[in-house]
Amino acid sequence: MKTVKDFFNQKVGETKRVYQITGKIHKLYLDRLSIKSGLTVLDVGCGSGFFSWYFNSIGCKVTAIDFASERIRFAKQNINNVNFILGDFMKYKFKNKFDIVFAAATLMHIKDYKKALEKMIKLVKKDGSIILIEPYDRETRVIKNEVFMQRFNPKDIIEILNKENMKVIAYNKYLNLLPLIHRFPHLDRLWLLIESFPILKPRSFLIRANTI
Ligand SMILES: C[S@@+](CC[C@H](N)C(=O)[O-])C[C@H]1O[C@@H](n2cnc3c(N)ncnc32)[C@H](O)[C@@H]1O
Repeated sequence: MKTVKDFFNQKVGETKRVYQITGKIHKLYLDRLSIKSGLTVLDVGCGSGFFSWYFNSIGCKVTAIDFASERIRFAKQNINNVNFILGDFMKYKFKNKFDIVFAAATLMHIKDYKKALEKMIKLVKKDGSIILIEPYDRETRVIKNEVFMQRFNPKDIIEILNKENMKVIAYNKYLNLLPLIHRFPHLDRLWLLIESFPILKPRSFLIRANTI
């Protein structure tokens, strides 16, 4: 099995077109959170930087970390105004706390996801938020794959948040059509239509929790 770092160093194939479509879908949900401009955001496991770009585009001040150098290189080349850090989130010592600590599809690749989430929570300022987008399952479990990955029952995540004095203020389950979208990007209108009616099996969930 490949290490997570090696796996993500190889897969840097996102085209701008795929970004535009998947971005619109995540935007549907993130826009509903009405995040104020001017807030500081930490994007944990930023990958090629789509969400860093999103938070920057709504006026937030973004710091983003990933340990896959190819991803950080791609992100730096394509996205301005973001402080991209090459490093392991679990080891990196941050000097400041943030208004929002965000992760999309990152906890799913960290074996000790509880420890990672606890570290994320410690980095949230008073009156700040954690925002997570992760893959959904009926029970938290590791998935057989060429790289370590797991899906979550959101209850397990919410339990950790509550223990650490975070209160969930937004929760959505939604479809994640990314594999299909990557294959058939030209069907963008269809993907957007389907995503607007999440009647099928949910694949992802979004949680926002605030400090109490
Ligand atoms: C599935 S990708 C998601 C990328 C991005 N958040 C997105 O949704 O477009 C997961 C990312 O997390 C990064 N990652 C996993 N564990 C990490 C760690 N301990 N420190 C930093 N980055 C990590 C991987 O390198 C990869 O880029």
